[in-house]
Amino acid sequence: MSEFTIERVKTGIPGLDELIEGGFPRGDTILIAGKAGTGKSILAIQFLFKGATLYNESGVLVTLEEPPHLIRRNMLRFGMDLAQLERAGRLAIVDLSPSKEVTPVTVGEYPSFDLSGLEAIILNHVKRLNAKRVVIDTLSIMAYKFRSRDILREEFFKLCASISRAGCTLLLTSEIPAQDTGLGVFDIEAFLASGVIVLYNEKISDTSRSRSIEVLKLRGSKHSSRIHSMRITDEGIRVWPGEITPGH
Ligand SMILES: Nc1ncnc2c1ncn2[C@@H]1O[C@H](COP(=O)(O)OP(=O)(O)OP(=O)(O)O)[C@@H](O)[C@H]1O
Ligand SMILES: [Mg+2]
Repeated sequence: MSEFTIERVKTGIPGLDELIEGGFPRGDTILIAGKAGTGKSILAIQFLFKGATLYNESGVLVTLEEPPHLIRRNMLRFGMDLAQLERAGRLAIVDLSPSKEVTPVTVGEYPSFDLSGLEAIILNHVKRLNAKRVVIDTLSIMAYKFRSRDILREEFFKLCASISRAGCTLLLTSEIPAQDTGLGVFDIEAFLASGVIVLYNEKISDTSRSRSIEVLKLRGSKHSSRIHSMRITDEGIRVWPGEITPGH
């Protein structure tokens, strides 16, 4: 590899690497964005599973929304056995999903909230597993805990930077709200990330929808600027690099 070549991390999503010069730039932060149910979690977890099983790269999954037992169950449908990877020390799942006992919080309740605790937990697992891949699904759920957007931006930036310094490629997922409320953190995350991948599940007729994927930005890469077909198959997510989605 020449000194001018950026090292690429294979995504484990069939068809996607061909759109992005072979994979994500190593150590970068990539945002996987899309509306509800577009496949963000599946794509991000597939990145971890394939990393561990095909590319000898262990991973850490931080889940803030779905509880681990449901993630394990749903991924097993695609033949991806996360529990087995956890037992083998190739995957760690950090469970920050809301438990039944959680009491509702109100804005401003955390005057000095920061992400250093989360950072320490993640780095600890990264060290223990010698992990090279980290997924946070989804960081934006924490946004309401911060007093201002400036603090939030600063905290998100520090967290991403320290995971990158630890040698890991980081995938963040972020929901694009159906209606833009102006309160979203998508803009901040998209700004922090060196790459943004958007997933769609658009209505193409009265009776059907079609999934597709777009590489919105990827710094340092000559990426496709088209919208490509994507499907959730029995083996997980697959992208058709040559196929352009009808309606786009
Ligand atoms: N076994 C499967 N086969 C085909 N499609 C599936 C299968 N399991 C889930 N899906 C599709 O994937 C969607 C869920 O994907 P995923 O959880 O990754 O979405 P998401 O973008 O993370 O959603 P959210 O914003 O709610 O977190 C389901 O709504 C369904 O349409
Ligand atoms: Mg999800």
